[in-house]
Amino acid sequence: MPKILAFAGSGRKKSYNFSITKCAAQGANQDGVEVTVIDMSEFDMPIFNEDLEAAHGLPANAKKFKQLLMSHDGFIIGSPEYNSGYSGLLKNAIDWASRKEEGEKPLQAFKGKYAAIIATSSGALGGIRGLVPLRMLLGNIGMHVLPDQLAVGGIGKLVDEEQNVVDEKTKTNLHAIGRTMAEALLQAAK
Ligand SMILES: Cc1cc2nc3c(=O)[nH]c(=O)nc-3n(C[C@H](O)[C@H](O)[C@H](O)COP(=O)(O)O)c2cc1C
Repeated sequence: MPKILAFAGSGRKKSYNFSITKCAAQGANQDGVEVTVIDMSEFDMPIFNEDLEAAHGLPANAKKFKQLLMSHDGFIIGSPEYNSGYSGLLKNAIDWASRKEEGEKPLQAFKGKYAAIIATSSGALGGIRGLVPLRMLLGNIGMHVLPDQLAVGGIGKLVDEEQNVVDEKTKTNLHAIGRTMAEALLQAAK
């Protein structure tokens, strides 16, 4: 059964990108597909450094994160925009997970897999500028990035006090992204 992993590039407690990621994951949750949502605040990792890697290998959380990526076929990624790029947390996690350990193929966590990318911020553009370099990065590590993407602007007005997306139109659009990911995986598995 195809498996989807959903995560955001933010470890912030009230991360809006985690909110939209969870909402898109609901749309992906359909018959014949398994969806796992993880909170990156539980995968704290040091900034990647080859000296650190040479001395100690992958840190425990980087290993755990890479194992999760390796055991899933598609990812839904909620990507915060920082200074018109994606977040350092997301890049750092990808960098660690890109490192090959014994018995693995190069870029095994990513190559040939599918990604759906989404973003949000309180600004009008919703973080869409960060999705451009993210799409390029994921493509360069061998992923099929779905053409459909979504950047949700003005997010502060679209969530409730628990940071759940409550705006119906936004929910519909996010669910559609999740559904597209699920359908892509089901199609690829045929
Ligand atoms: C260093 C920094 C740079 C930012 N740059 C942008 C930006 O270029 N565009 C934008 O829309 N929001 C920008 N923001 C606002 C974040 O996108 C916003 O705080 C977002 O909610 C962060 O994601 P999160 O809620 O998932 O943690 C920036 C925030 C920080 C801390």
